[in-house]
Formats: sequence, C-alpha cells, structure tokens
Amino acid sequence: MSVRIVCHMISSVDGRLVSQRWSSPTRSINISEVYESVASSFQAQGWMIGRTTMAEYDCGVTESAPAPTDNQNNKTCFKGHQADRLIAVVFDPKGKLHYSSDHLQTGEHIVSVLSENVSDEYLSELRQIGVSYVFEGESKQNRFQKALKSIEELFSVKTLLLEGGGIINGAFLEAGLIDELSVLIYPGLDGAHSSPSIIGYQGDNPLPAQKSHLELIDAKTMAFGMVHLHYRLTNDHKKQ
Ligand SMILES: NC(=O)c1ccc[n+]([C@@H]2O[C@H](COP(=O)([O-])OP(=O)(O)OC[C@H]3O[C@@H](n4cnc5c(N)ncnc54)[C@H](OP(=O)(O)O)[C@@H]3O)[C@@H](O)[C@H]2O)c1
Repeated sequence: MSVRIVCHMISSVDGRLVSQRWSSPTRSINISEVYESVASSFQAQGWMIGRTTMAEYDCGVTESAPAPTDNQNNKTCFKGHQADRLIAVVFDPKGKLHYSSDHLQTGEHIVSVLSENVSDEYLSELRQIGVSYVFEGESKQNRFQKALKSIEELFSVKTLLLEGGGIINGAFLEAGLIDELSVLIYPGLDGAHSSPSIIGYQGDNPLPAQKSHLELIDAKTMAFGMVHLHYRLTNDHKKQ
C-alpha cells in the first residue's frame, strides 16, 4: 500500500471537532474558502470520511439500519462509472447508507468501504445506482490496508485526504496510516470537556498515538486569522 494519506481537518483552538459548537469570530470568516484552498494544495485524487460524516454531508445520502448480512466470503469489488471525477470514499462497514446517485452534489464519485459479510442484496442496490465498493480486511491489522489497496488498484490514486470525523481519523492514526497531518486552526473555542476531538480513537488500545511521531513541515497564518499547521508523521508500525 503506497498511497499517501493526508489527514486534513479544521479545528477550534482547543482541538475540538464540531464546528457548530465553536464561539463566533469577531469578524465574518469564509471557512470553506481557506479549507478548500489548502485541501487542493495536496493535489489528491479524492478524499475519505467516516459513515457519520457522510450521512451529514450530502442530502442525497440517507442512513438506515445496517444492511442484512450473509456468510459468503470472497466477494468481488465493483467499480462504477468514475469518469474524470475525484473519489469520495466512505467507511460504512455495516452498509447503513443509501445513495440517490453515483456521485455527490460536490461532484465526487462515491466509493463505499464495506465489511465482506454485507449481503448481496445491498451490494446489488449499490451496483444499480453505480456506487463503487471495496471490502475491508477481516483482521484489525489489515482492515484498512486491504480496502486501500483495492482503491489504489481500481482508481490509480496516489494521494488521498482523510477528512474526518474524529472516530475514523483515530482509527487511521492507531493503524499507523496517516502520513501527514494538516490542521487549520479556527479562531474560536468549543470549551466543553465532553466535546469530541478532531482525532478520537475508539478502541481497546489505551495509547493509540504512541507509535506516531510528528515533525513540523510548515506553519502559516492564513486569511481570517486562521492558522495552518502541517506535520509529517513517522509511524513505527510500518517499520515492523
Ligand atoms: N472539523 C472538521 O474538519 C470535521 C470534518 C469532518 C467531520 N466533522 C464532524 O464530525 C462529526 C462526525 O464525526 P464522528 O467522529 O462522530 O464520526 P465519523 O468518523 O465520521 O464516522 C464514524 C463511523 O465510521 C464507521 N467506521 C468505519 N470503519 C471504522 C473503524 N475502523 N473504526 C471506527 N469507525 C469506523 C463507523 O460506522 P458504524 O457505526 O456504522 O460502524 C463509525 O461509527 C460530525 O459532527 C461532523 O460534522 C468535522
């Protein structure tokens, strides 16, 4: 797996995830202008998000109960019609999401990462809409690697942005798969102890960041008083 993964996020000064909770700025801020200009500087062929973030992102995406399961393994990945679109990868292992199109309103072709026990009935729904899908690995060690390898082969990607939320970012961090971290600091605060962080691993490893080491690549003051921090990560996991 050689795809470069850049985790690109916007955070409050106290590192929190949910922008609707942040204090208002002293003057109006065009967050997406700055966020998208930094995102495009990485020249990625697409981006990846967790199931919860995708359910909020596009009104053509709806969420329901997990898809039925079966015990058939060795299912085949499916590539829909990407044309010249970037890809939007969603980690939806249980098959909770339903789509009205093979692409988002922002233009990206949808690629779902599923567990292999999702039933063919759900896969057939995705094929009819034209949504692409690949499968995650069964073990914790190769859960993401297997899916990323399939995505690399099917879509010839070199760089992908990982754009949250905190739970999927945390899972990637713990797996040692983040190569670079790009954080835009918004001039505001959340303030609550209980609010989720931009990286929020939920699993049984009590120290999910211990094998990752950060080196600052660049720090810049941006428009509207935002600050951009860009780090390279060295992950001990890959040395093993
Ligand atoms: N500030 C920012 O830049 C930014 C960016 C993106 C999102 N957000 C905000 O973040 C919030 C949502 O973030 P979130 O952290 O709650 O959710 P999330 O990371 O978007 O999605 C979490 C879900 O991803 C699925 N998943 C797939 N593989 C997984 C794995 N290996 N480990 C863990 N989960 C896996 C799980 O779905 P199942 O439960 O179905 O298994 C899990 O519940 C929203 O409020 C959104 O607005 C902020």
